[in-house]
Amino acid sequence: MKDASPQTIYLADYTPPAFLVGPVTLTFRLDPEKTRVISKIEFRPNPASQSDTFFLHGENLTLIRAAIDGQEVTPELSAQGLTCAVPDRPFTWEAEVEIAPAANTALEGLYMSNGMYCTQCEAEGFRKITYYPDRPDVMAPFTVRIEGREKIMLSNGNPAGRGDGWAEWHDPWPKPAYLFALVAGDLVNHPDRFTTKSGREVELNIWVRPGDEDKCAFGMEALKKSMTWDEETYGREYDLDVFNIVAVDDFNMGAMENKGLNIFNSSCVLASPETSTDANFERIEAIIAHEYFHNWTGNRITCRDWFQLCLKEGLTVFRDAQFTADMRSAPVKRIEDAIMLRGRQFREDNGPLAHPVRPDSFVEINNFYTATVYEKGAELIGMLKTLFGHDEYYKALDLYFQRHDGDAATIEDWLKVFEDATGRDLTQFKRWYEQAGTPRLSISDDFSNGTYTLTFKQETPPTPGQPQKDPRVIPIAVGLLNPNGDEVVPTTVLEMTQAEQSFAFDGLASRPTPSILRDFSAPVILEHKTDNATRAFLLANDTDPFNRWQAGRDLVLDTLLRMIRQGDAPDSAYLDALHRLIRDDTQDPAFRALALGLPPQDELAQLIHDAGAVPDPQAIWEATETLKQARAEAFQDTATRLYAQYQVTDPYRPSAEQAAARRLANAALGIINRLDGGALAQRQFDGADNMTQQLAALSALISAGKGDAAVARFYDQWKHDRLVIDKWFAIQIQNAAPQDAAPRTKDLTQHPDFTIRNPNRFRSVLGALAGNSAGFHHASGAGYALLADQLVALDPVNPQTTARMCTAFETWARYDATRQAHARAALERILATPDLSRDTTEMVTRILG
Ligand code: PHE
Ligand code: ZN
Repeated sequence: MKDASPQTIYLADYTPPAFLVGPVTLTFRLDPEKTRVISKIEFRPNPASQSDTFFLHGENLTLIRAAIDGQEVTPELSAQGLTCAVPDRPFTWEAEVEIAPAANTALEGLYMSNGMYCTQCEAEGFRKITYYPDRPDVMAPFTVRIEGREKIMLSNGNPAGRGDGWAEWHDPWPKPAYLFALVAGDLVNHPDRFTTKSGREVELNIWVRPGDEDKCAFGMEALKKSMTWDEETYGREYDLDVFNIVAVDDFNMGAMENKGLNIFNSSCVLASPETSTDANFERIEAIIAHEYFHNWTGNRITCRDWFQLCLKEGLTVFRDAQFTADMRSAPVKRIEDAIMLRGRQFREDNGPLAHPVRPDSFVEINNFYTATVYEKGAELIGMLKTLFGHDEYYKALDLYFQRHDGDAATIEDWLKVFEDATGRDLTQFKRWYEQAGTPRLSISDDFSNGTYTLTFKQETPPTPGQPQKDPRVIPIAVGLLNPNGDEVVPTTVLEMTQAEQSFAFDGLASRPTPSILRDFSAPVILEHKTDNATRAFLLANDTDPFNRWQAGRDLVLDTLLRMIRQGDAPDSAYLDALHRLIRDDTQDPAFRALALGLPPQDELAQLIHDAGAVPDPQAIWEATETLKQARAEAFQDTATRLYAQYQVTDPYRPSAEQAAARRLANAALGIINRLDGGALAQRQFDGADNMTQQLAALSALISAGKGDAAVARFYDQWKHDRLVIDKWFAIQIQNAAPQDAAPRTKDLTQHPDFTIRNPNRFRSVLGALAGNSAGFHHASGAGYALLADQLVALDPVNPQTTARMCTAFETWARYDATRQAHARAALERILATPDLSRDTTEMVTRILG
């Protein structure tokens, strides 16, 4: 049922729940069309609440029966839930409802995926399962009985018995309803064990559909590494006798941290060398870690309300990034995260969807699982660690776990812990949680009498609803190099607190070259007007790997922008500096591969827009192509040598070392491919025995215009494997030239394997279109129109995924009048769709501004 008028919910309106919940007992009688859910819940009035209104959330439920203390009652029903007269003392609530999991295509609540029952309750899905106070500050232990014919029937917590046609589970840890989960189906497991540091024996399982058993080993290793890492790094142990992970094909997000029963999008857990790329392996390891880490940062300590989402997500993303940095290469992880942050979060922060890390209002909470809440949220934790240092950070975290275990907490609680542990005042730091927008940091410097002075100015442009911004505390990590390239001042964290502020370094023999914002110490945009000679110097000499990479990125941005704006030729100083770096075999191959990466075209568009001009996506694409061609001509011999030298001859392993070699060799392939008409790519495609090599070759063949046969062969080889076919759809669109992208996408939506029912498949096609910047923003408007058609079709099926995909339009106002008119027409057409979901209505309305 849809709301007539979507309501805005405000953080300022928070009130404690009127009733608290004791033990919850649920019985499920499974049936695809009519599942019965029988609940028995102990309620008691909350002394901390002024209200005595008994309201339970409930949506799309058929109420069969309700009783209080055994007496039948007739509650008053609405589209949002029910109210009922209740006694002014503890009482037992019982209800029986009917739901239809097979008809649930929104994938929220109890639904079916390939004949298997599964649930998704975050954020507000539990209310689609039964009547309940579905808010995270209401926590209770759950006992669950599942009745059905399924071979495997799982819920949260520990197994509490099973027999013919039933299984029972008991979760002793009080939890909010959003962490509830149930899975039932004919699943098979990949089992293992783990002994915690205090000696608890934990049974581990990854549950999959028959046929996927051989894709679980890597995920299991990642899980065990995560469990050990959290014990060693944060002193956090697992707290149940079993930890289950289930892979499902139809899932709106990546994965979900339900207590003791994590549910994963199959693309985020299933892995094998033949079907997964090195990047997939790294991502799977990180997501398994992320969900596991939520057991403490999310489950044992949860959020008071959904405005506090970054409390669990920012911290858990930060923890999983630390884990990846420890398991693999810390600089590579940091560089990849910065690329991602700039590509997604800066874009969000600079457009109509900008919102604070802790928003103060929302219409649909599902629309706030954003790069700002997650990735910028993680950056804020990183800044706290940079400001206070390793020891104080872990001291504060120990206090956080000690003080708030079992709580539904707030950002105020979190900051208070840091204040109490460090004795510092975080009033100004809190602005990072409250103010949207990315600060711009401009720099000037001066050298006289041996003293070098750096002056910084910070400024944050207005964002929707926040015209004025106050200065924030910014940790700026700086090092100084002398003209020989030696470091004369090692990394020092400057604590900027004012709008404009100077920092002096004295006792210097000559004017140093500064290396600023080392390791990307704050999520800000550096407006550093320096020359290319300095950038080349830093690329060669900086001791900070992040800033060495950044210097290379600044060089390539500079040449690309001059090519786009002035029609300049590719800068030879840039080509020389990059060539020197990639030839140098003492350098990490992963670092060289990263240095060969080009900035996303969308980021170039943003830079041009920020400088007050109107970006032309076609011109940006052409400049990028020209630069690639110039690099190919300049680097041909080196690329040929690197390709041969970095071939991996050992059997495939998804290790950081092997992945780095493949990454550099495949970057070299991309260079050679522009000159040999796809010959080398064809050889690699024909001989590939793993997906990393096969997909890199396929991508090269398509961009060389020689992909047809390989595309057909790839499909034939993999048509039985959903996740590989997702890659097959995406790669054809990612590599399409601007004018071909929308027509190619349209063709692929007619393919028999395309379906809007599966979010992975939808994203692999339409998400790939949105990611092809010059193709999606083509002046014809075909990209916009096609995406609008598909979103209109998807909205009644799956509002959550529809609303997320609307973000493809968030940059529309950057472009010229013709493109704007096409985009506006597409957006208005979506908005005019009868019965449009609350999710999509909110997103399109905000994007239109
Ligand atoms: N809480 C999940 C995570 O970050 C993400 C998620 C949100 C999944 C909402 C499903 C629905 O790990
Ligand atoms: Zn998370």
